[in-house]
Amino acid sequence: MPNLLVSSNAAELAQAAAKHITERAIAVVRERGTFSFVLAGGSTPRSVYSLLATSHRSEFPWQQTHFFWGDERHVPPTDPESNFRMAWESMLSRVLVPSENIHRIHAEDEDADNAARAYSEEIRAGLAVTSGALPVFDFVLLGIGPDGHTASLFPHTTALRVTDRLVVTNWVDKLKSIRITMTVPLLTNARETAFLVQGAEKAPAVKEILEGEYRPDLYPAQLIAKKASSVTWMLDQNSASLLTSAKESLHER
Ligand code: 6PG
Repeated sequence: MPNLLVSSNAAELAQAAAKHITERAIAVVRERGTFSFVLAGGSTPRSVYSLLATSHRSEFPWQQTHFFWGDERHVPPTDPESNFRMAWESMLSRVLVPSENIHRIHAEDEDADNAARAYSEEIRAGLAVTSGALPVFDFVLLGIGPDGHTASLFPHTTALRVTDRLVVTNWVDKLKSIRITMTVPLLTNARETAFLVQGAEKAPAVKEILEGEYRPDLYPAQLIAKKASSVTWMLDQNSASLLTSAKESLHER
């Protein structure tokens, strides 16, 4: 059963999420010396990243953290659509992180598959994985869309079934665009996974992912939620509103 952290509203969710991530980062660095953190894209994490860089600025282990991205749009890092740009503006540009600790996807590469392959190597190098073993991230942060996608693993897309790559391109027909995304085997291999979800429009997807039948082609987030170890759902009351289990799990203050 995943851990549910339900907050009253968006502001409280951001605070609870930033607190949870900071606590985990400190604990992992104390235990292992470094913290490999896969960032989510989209818009919801912006407020959390901003709190990490402000409220948690002094306690977060910036020097020991390696930042990765779970997915990226096929755009330059300066593009308003860039997940890197969102994290850079809200957090990384405001704190002292060694540049070698920032492992962005080079999505400016015209050849998206080349960018995906290069990122696979970046991940292996960043985590010092030399063998063919599957890299293990300490913490993966993910969002979900109202359609049940996570990272850039969208319903009925080819990336859902890739098992022999760490990072692939994925054509998303409904967006008429190509994405670059970590694959299910890599994302489910992390030590800890947290979904950050806010808003009533996502309540049906949250309900289906957590309490519905297993239909991963329709709700790709199930591929991670049901297989990853140590999964935490950080929700606001709106996105958790259709869950039967959320009624009991109040957000510890
Ligand atoms: C992306 C993200 C994607 C995101 C969800 C939720 O590249 O867009 O990786 O998976 O997490 O779409 O996005 P919002 O936070 O904007 O609702």
